[in-house]
Amino acid sequence: MTIQNSVWLGTADLPTYEPLDADQETDVVVVGGGIIGLTTALHLRQEGLAVVLLEGGRIGARTSGNTTGKVTSQHGAIYAALLDRHGRDAAQQYATANQEAVDEVDELTRRLGIDCELRRGPSFVYSTGDTDLDREAEVARELGLPAHSADPADMGLPVTATAAVRFDDQVMLHPARYLGGLAAAFSAAGGRIFERTRVTDVDAKGDGVAAQTQAGHHVVARHAVVATLLPFGTLGGYFARTRPNQSHGIAVRLPVDAPTAMTISADGPTRSTRPWPGGGPSGLIVVGGDHETGAEEETNASYQGLVDWIEELWGTRVQPEYRWSAEDYSTPDQLPYVGKAPGSPVLVATGMHKWGLSNGTVAAGILRDAVLDRDNRWSALFDAGRIGDARSVAKLVQDNLKVGKEFAAGHLRRLLGSGLDHLEVGQGGLYDLDGKTVGAYLDHDGRLHTVVPVCTHLGCPLRWNEGDTTWDCNCHGSRFAPDGAVLDGPATKPLAEPES
Ligand SMILES: Cc1cc2nc3c(=O)[nH]c(=O)nc-3n(C[C@H](O)[C@H](O)[C@H](O)COP(=O)(O)OP(=O)(O)OC[C@H]3O[C@@H](n4cnc5c(N)ncnc54)[C@H](O)[C@@H]3O)c2cc1C
Ligand code: FES
Repeated sequence: MTIQNSVWLGTADLPTYEPLDADQETDVVVVGGGIIGLTTALHLRQEGLAVVLLEGGRIGARTSGNTTGKVTSQHGAIYAALLDRHGRDAAQQYATANQEAVDEVDELTRRLGIDCELRRGPSFVYSTGDTDLDREAEVARELGLPAHSADPADMGLPVTATAAVRFDDQVMLHPARYLGGLAAAFSAAGGRIFERTRVTDVDAKGDGVAAQTQAGHHVVARHAVVATLLPFGTLGGYFARTRPNQSHGIAVRLPVDAPTAMTISADGPTRSTRPWPGGGPSGLIVVGGDHETGAEEETNASYQGLVDWIEELWGTRVQPEYRWSAEDYSTPDQLPYVGKAPGSPVLVATGMHKWGLSNGTVAAGILRDAVLDRDNRWSALFDAGRIGDARSVAKLVQDNLKVGKEFAAGHLRRLLGSGLDHLEVGQGGLYDLDGKTVGAYLDHDGRLHTVVPVCTHLGCPLRWNEGDTTWDCNCHGSRFAPDGAVLDGPATKPLAEPES
């Protein structure tokens, strides 16, 4: 049987924390308990500041705990493109910042004694098509990265590839155990974490800020860091300057030993592999099947595509033991946004391009230095203010509100399914209930969950994701559980219940 959970979250004993039940005062409030929030909170606590971390769900349980667990400066084949687009200085900074992040994660793991299966080894990007990897290797090497043109046969992956680039001494780890270790170290150092505490707003208050939670409590602080994958609500307008993209992962045991190196394809469809230590020598993890969040009708097909790929390469049937999906955001110029949000007192980090274990470690250093009013070598490259000034942000919000409403009207009519009495166990979708459109899902205990299938962020229609049993929004990537609870994205309110 396949377990619908990430192989990491299914095999980690993450510490748990109570929800916030009273107002608090502190030096820094950090919102979000993924890699960026936890690393930033730990840094600031180690600098002697009082820090409160508020997490809407469970720490580490969203994108960071659903990754491939590669901490590498090899972000596919990007260095030639970065050089062409942003020039040598910017490409050099991106390369150095991310390579240093690889070492920082290794150092932090050792110093804190985190048991997270960390291993160092080679990472390969390979071409099965037109991508010019000779130039990629040359540029990456000139930027000081440990890059070499390689024989694709060295990957140990039975794929027909024309070229490969190897980066030496990269890191792979068990991301959920790493995040659990960061949280435990932060708490042990006197940091306070509150889970199941969703923040709905952060406003200026006096010389500082006040974060408001859904339950109506306030955390007043001198600084706020919003590390929620994408800033929530309309904060900074980042929802309109990023795109959400979802990837799928599976963990399988092959009938032979799995490749020991990390690999990723340079040409589509993306296939990213690494060993799965928990699965023994034959354990393999494959991540890919990318599509924009909420844009795919047949989400089970994305998982099947990964299974088909393995079966074709190894000529054998495999049954995934775990399968999962997660999303991340991309920016138009391929660089993350980290730092002060325009028109707001808040610090943010978003747009990690599916490389947030290293980019997010860089981001945490930038955020720490911004709070402490220190210079940081990478803050200009990742400048969160390049999105525009407060006026252009306000216009983005207006335009997006309009798009959401227009889109909703036509789209719902097109997707409408048959009556609710035809729903089978495990099935969900859009249905007509007495002339009204409802989103419905019949769970395996026979409970019917009904919601108004309209995103609570800016009103776009939601699509039922049958592969993950979630309601997904293609406008800006909010995702909701069958009962309407917020899972991801800029939305902060649960889906409404249909009027009876
Ligand atoms: C399938 C997949 C595989 C990936 N593999 C890799 C990889 O191998 N290597 C790599 O470097 N990168 C990888 N990435 C990218 C990387 O995982 C992300 O960039 C990174 O995890 C983002 O971290 P984060 O802290 O911003 O977000 P998250 O981990 O999502 O953390 C944000 C947290 O904020 C919480 N939150 C949200 N809204 C609120 C609110 N209003 N109030 C309170 N809390 C809130 C959420 O519950 C969540 O816990 C992958 C991405 C995907 C999708
Ligand atoms: S995420 Fe913005 S409208 Fe749904």
